[in-house]
Amino acid sequence: MNPPAILVAVVATSSFLLMAVATADGGQVTNGCKPRERDALLAFKEGITDDPAGLLASWRRRRLGGGHELQDCCRWRGVQCSDQTAGHVIKLDLRNAFQDDHHHDATLVGEIGQSLISLEHLEYLDLSMNNLEGPTGRLPEFLGSFKSLRYLNLSGIRFSGMVPPHIGNLSNLQILDLSISTVHQDDIYYLPFLYSGDASWLARLSSLQYLNLNGVNLSAALDWPNALNMVPSLKVLSLSSCSLQSARQSLPLLNVTQLEALDLSENEFNHPTESSWIWNLTSLKYLNLSSTGLYGEIPNALGKMHSLQVLDFSFDEGYSMGMSITKKGNMCTMKADLKNLCNLQVLFLDYRLASGDIAEIFDSLPQCSPNQQLKEVHLAGNHITGMIPNGIGRLTSLVTLDLFNNNITGKVPSEIGMLTNLKNLYLHNNHLDGVITEKHFARLINLKSIYLCYNSLKIVVDPEWLPPFRVEKAYFSSCWMGPKFPAWLQSQVYIVELIMNDAGIDDTFPDWFSTTFSKATFLEISNNQIGGELPTDMENMSVKRLNLDSNQIAGQIPRMPRNLTLLDISNNHITGHVPQSFCELRNIEGIDLSDNLLKGDFPQCSGMRKIVPSGSQLDTLNDQHPYDGNDGLCGPPLENSCSSSSASKQRHLIRSKQSLGMGPFSLGVVLGFIAGLWVVFCTLLFKKSWRVAYFCLLDNMYNNVCVIVVVQWGRLPGRT
Ligand SMILES: *[C@@H]1O[C@H](CO)[C@@H](O)[C@H](O)[C@H]1NC(C)=O
Ligand SMILES: *[C@@H]1O[C@H](CO)[C@@H](O)[C@H](O)[C@H]1NC(C)=O
Ligand SMILES: *[C@@H]1O[C@H](CO)[C@@H](O)[C@H](O)[C@H]1NC(C)=O
Ligand SMILES: *[C@@H]1O[C@H](CO)[C@@H](O)[C@H](O)[C@H]1NC(C)=O
Ligand SMILES: *[C@@H]1O[C@H](CO)[C@@H](O)[C@H](O)[C@H]1NC(C)=O
Ligand SMILES: *[C@@H]1O[C@H](CO)[C@@H](O)[C@H](O)[C@H]1NC(C)=O
Ligand SMILES: *[C@@H]1O[C@H](CO)[C@@H](O)[C@H](O)[C@H]1NC(C)=O
Ligand SMILES: *[C@@H]1O[C@H](CO)[C@@H](O)[C@H](O)[C@H]1NC(C)=O
Ligand SMILES: *[C@@H]1O[C@H](CO)[C@@H](O)[C@H](O)[C@H]1NC(C)=O
Repeated sequence: MNPPAILVAVVATSSFLLMAVATADGGQVTNGCKPRERDALLAFKEGITDDPAGLLASWRRRRLGGGHELQDCCRWRGVQCSDQTAGHVIKLDLRNAFQDDHHHDATLVGEIGQSLISLEHLEYLDLSMNNLEGPTGRLPEFLGSFKSLRYLNLSGIRFSGMVPPHIGNLSNLQILDLSISTVHQDDIYYLPFLYSGDASWLARLSSLQYLNLNGVNLSAALDWPNALNMVPSLKVLSLSSCSLQSARQSLPLLNVTQLEALDLSENEFNHPTESSWIWNLTSLKYLNLSSTGLYGEIPNALGKMHSLQVLDFSFDEGYSMGMSITKKGNMCTMKADLKNLCNLQVLFLDYRLASGDIAEIFDSLPQCSPNQQLKEVHLAGNHITGMIPNGIGRLTSLVTLDLFNNNITGKVPSEIGMLTNLKNLYLHNNHLDGVITEKHFARLINLKSIYLCYNSLKIVVDPEWLPPFRVEKAYFSSCWMGPKFPAWLQSQVYIVELIMNDAGIDDTFPDWFSTTFSKATFLEISNNQIGGELPTDMENMSVKRLNLDSNQIAGQIPRMPRNLTLLDISNNHITGHVPQSFCELRNIEGIDLSDNLLKGDFPQCSGMRKIVPSGSQLDTLNDQHPYDGNDGLCGPPLENSCSSSSASKQRHLIRSKQSLGMGPFSLGVVLGFIAGLWVVFCTLLFKKSWRVAYFCLLDNMYNNVCVIVVVQWGRLPGRT
């Protein structure tokens, strides 16, 4: 089970009462709503300044069509009333469910007017994901006066300032969600925060089962564990990114014995792991301590949390880039024996351990056959040494095995081929050697992603071999697979990403290249000795990023796949002219044709105006704006300035690069992650060895406005 599912399951249980309420159909109310409550809703509507999707269109005093009958507010969109006689408004659900979808802007803009206070019987209030922070940005105090309220969701409203302690008056509240939206991830870094300097109001929420304050600054609310320990009904507690300082307060007795899910990720705990009370919470099914500064031994108490299904104790480098300068990952050692955690399904420990031996770590994993639940093991970036033990074959429930960025040596045991459920195998960036054969794949019928790159591996299989799998992502860079173009790839027709640089291939393109890889969007087969001509039937391929540079490719440039955004065929022996068909590549963002035997000029495409400049101007630009996160980078010579949101894009760039964690990938991959951002262009500018020409397509907008063609002018005869 994945963690969000656990959260939802718990909420579903806890909102049983609410569901009973929700089934009372507003349409059956005969008496109509109370005039006082209708007026309150209409006054609330007054406070809404923008309603692009017309959600509140039904909220009118009279029926459409001019009748004089008073409108029944119980039938208004988002409104529900209690049973037929009383007819009080008990539910108001104006959640912006389209927040993710730019084509359906349904965001309500305005403020939460105090008139709502008249809805005295309100049990359910969901205004999440709307821009209802109003001119003050404050979370209104009067929300603490709904005595019957059981569900309050204000998630994703960009409030700032103090959480009013009045919320603590909601003694019937079961579910409280004041979290920053996860849809707008970058908000976490740029918004002013809601904060609370004193958590005592939480202790008064005596019915609370679910609490999500992700992103609310609780750095000064030192009493938070004690306050929450007064709420024994708590089942789900989420305090991610709350600037919490410590999780080792002394608690006389643990009261929250029903707690099933605890998320304390992205906080600044800087104390030994084992000194925390967290390990006493043996009822937990879900525990997220990712990107917390905890250090030292992971205590054996962890091995006694028998209910645990999901443990995330990873460290995300992206987080350390965003929030704090000091690197806090890789500061723990594994002293816990997890052998008896028979419910454990998901284990994230990436970038957490300072060292470790792979055989010892595998030994301490759950051993619960035949009831083994373990599906995901993430141990990337942990300085792990040693050899993968043959015993790996017993972890038959594994779906994801993630060991990349370690110092694992030796051969990959062929027992890995027994993991029938395995979908994702990440072994890249280690010191593995030896030969991978058919036996390693014998029963891997479910394999979807295989990352073996940056080891010293050889893949040697029978040319007639038919793999039992159909992978979607295959990263083989630096694995020796040659000298023939691997014939078994012909069966891999579902491949989306294939990276096969430095694979020792000394061959021509097979004639099935374009058909087998027709669905691929990312193909990178650079640094081989592939000769002959480019396939001439590539035009209908889906590929967006095509890197075939540094081979021995000769002949002329054929029609290229139409949806290409990035093309690199540099450093080959390609001859002839740049074809007119390049003008049809409407999505293109970067082309590198340098180091070939091309002649002539770039074709004059209609709608293309050759300016986004002499080489010297570009150099000046480079010198004036070193790549330091300066906003000016995105300005001229690009026509569009980077706009106010450029800061967040820069941040996004850094995070993307970091989370990649794959070492010496080419620029192409990084580009792939951030394609479409102006930052890309800025990065290109600083590749000084390149000369960049800018063209502007007058008839296109934004992303496609500018085409960068990277060529080495010196190699183009006819140009001065
Ligand atoms: C609150 O609303 C957000 C956004 O609409 C949603 O993702 C979240 O699940 C809701 N929280 C609860 C506890 O229902
Ligand atoms: C609600 O809480 C506030 C602050 O905690 C308090 O001052 C106020 O008296 C409470 N109101 C009611 C009606 O209990
Ligand atoms: C949280 O608030 C404290 C002051 O109480 C402030 O020093 C800190 O920078 C804030 N944290 C964040 C992430 O904004
Ligand atoms: C445990 O919870 C009860 C009920 O809220 C409370 O009275 C008691 O003080 C709590 N105990 C501790 C140690 O916080
Ligand atoms: C936590 O567990 C330890 C060891 O089992 C025990 O000594 C301690 O009293 C517990 N703490 C609380 C708050 O229950
Ligand atoms: C743990 O929290 C981090 C940061 O909030 C999140 O990215 C990650 O997905 C969570 N892990 C799990 C397993 O839910
Ligand atoms: C891992 O390998 C790198 C490079 O080979 C080396 O510098 C580092 O010391 C090794 N670390 C460990 C823990 O063996
Ligand atoms: C690409 O598709 C077009 C239209 O479906 C077709 O006419 C053309 O022959 C195809 N080209 C190749 C090389 O298959
Ligand atoms: C190119 O992209 C368009 C729009 O995304 C898509 O409809 C079309 O199927 C793509 N063409 C190929 C050959 O993949």
